[in-house]
Amino acid sequence: MLRNVYLTLLCTGLWGVPSCCARQYHFVSLEKNWTEAQSYCRENYTDLAVIDSPEDNEQLLQTAGNPLQYAGWIGLYWDQWSWKWSMGNIRLDNRNGSDFTSWATGQPENYGGKENCGIMESRGLWHDYPCSCSFYFICYQEGSDAAGSYFLIETNKNFTAAQRSCREHHTDLASVRNRSENEEIRLTARGNYVWIGLFMEPWKWSSPSNPAFRNWADGVPDNAAGNEDCASLLMAGSSAGYWNGTGCDQRLPFFCFSEKKRVVMRVGLQLEKGKNPNEPGVRESLLNQMRGLLSKHTVMDRTSLKWKEQKDGLVFHPEKDKGEIWDPRFTQSLQSVFVVLSVDSPHFDYWFVWLFQY
Ligand SMILES: *[C@@H]1O[C@H](CO)[C@@H](O)[C@H](O)[C@H]1NC(C)=O
Ligand SMILES: *[C@@H]1O[C@H](CO)[C@@H](O)[C@H](O)[C@H]1NC(C)=O
Ligand SMILES: *[C@@H]1O[C@H](CO)[C@@H](O)[C@H](O)[C@H]1NC(C)=O
Ligand SMILES: *[C@@H]1O[C@H](CO)[C@@H](O)[C@H](O)[C@H]1NC(C)=O
Ligand SMILES: *[C@@H]1O[C@H](CO)[C@@H](O)[C@H](O)[C@H]1NC(C)=O
Ligand SMILES: *[C@@H]1O[C@H](CO)[C@@H](O)[C@H](O)[C@H]1NC(C)=O
Repeated sequence: MLRNVYLTLLCTGLWGVPSCCARQYHFVSLEKNWTEAQSYCRENYTDLAVIDSPEDNEQLLQTAGNPLQYAGWIGLYWDQWSWKWSMGNIRLDNRNGSDFTSWATGQPENYGGKENCGIMESRGLWHDYPCSCSFYFICYQEGSDAAGSYFLIETNKNFTAAQRSCREHHTDLASVRNRSENEEIRLTARGNYVWIGLFMEPWKWSSPSNPAFRNWADGVPDNAAGNEDCASLLMAGSSAGYWNGTGCDQRLPFFCFSEKKRVVMRVGLQLEKGKNPNEPGVRESLLNQMRGLLSKHTVMDRTSLKWKEQKDGLVFHPEKDKGEIWDPRFTQSLQSVFVVLSVDSPHFDYWFVWLFQY
């Protein structure tokens, strides 16, 4: 029967942009360091695993099955280049040596894994400290003349409280943009350890999304080894499912993810008269024909196709005003019908190229 169903794409159109994104996890048991694992995931999937929720985390652990190794990389890392100035949220961009810095030797060191804020000590040198520590602080007042720009506030506050206070009474915590400003602030501090506006956003995901979800094991990340700048998922033992800070040079298996994007296409089919494609089994068969047809043009792995059911539970509806075209009394030999196909695929770049060439 189906030999007689002509499956011809009359036209294809995209309804809207692909809607995001079912995430799929993949466990790769090869042992690689974090950067190599990242390259592998980026080439073969989307990126190292991003984890949004406890459900994601559980799914990730399941993906590994019964692994031999005790931990695997996920996409979270400590970004040593993320230091910023509170005022204007400006990045301290010294990777190329372009911005002025005054770190003491060996700083920032992230001792204990929690040093996300910066102080200036009596020699004018900077150290990273836990933001929860309390120090005097230096506020900056915009617009006042140079001599009056900096204020030493002689109250011990943690970083957030100091920042709030400066923003309330002045402009912000002080930024240090060059040596002369550094010296001016040092003199203003009169030998005290003071907060300046220096802080960082430590842990980042390898891929652009930025979920706040964390699932660290007890007491970590503590940077005990001094280089624990990458996160791994513990896969065995009592901490299974929790994350650990691990040296990025260690060789571990890893988790990648791929993103299935969904697009809805409107396609036209030509059917032989009298054939009702809504009969059981026919839809699936037509879908297979569709898949075969598309695979000649585009990348199909990890792609699924689905007919979209209309409100009445049926897929196929004749074009408007043409009546029930699968009614045997209908006389034309070929009938066209428009249907909606929904496609889950990580390959929309190829799809778009193909659709527009068609
Ligand atoms: C992607 O996977 C293939 C096959 O497993 C592997 O040979 C290749 O090295 C991977 N790409 C990267 C960048 O590791
Ligand atoms: C460093 O310099 C290079 C070349 O001048 C530039 O492409 C890159 O964006 C710079 N990186 C940063 C972090 O400023
Ligand atoms: C900072 O101090 C404020 C006010 O004393 C307090 O509410 C807040 O929890 C402290 N934050 C940290 C990170 O210690
Ligand atoms: C230091 O930076 C500030 C702000 O950009 C600028 O006004 C000042 O002239 C600079 N001083 C020197 C000595 O470069
Ligand atoms: C976390 O990793 C460190 C260093 O890699 C290791 O010493 C420690 O035992 C790990 N913690 C857990 C809970 O597995
Ligand atoms: C991982 O290995 C590659 C090649 O062996 C090396 O270039 C890279 O620096 C290593 N990365 C880390 C974080 O150790």
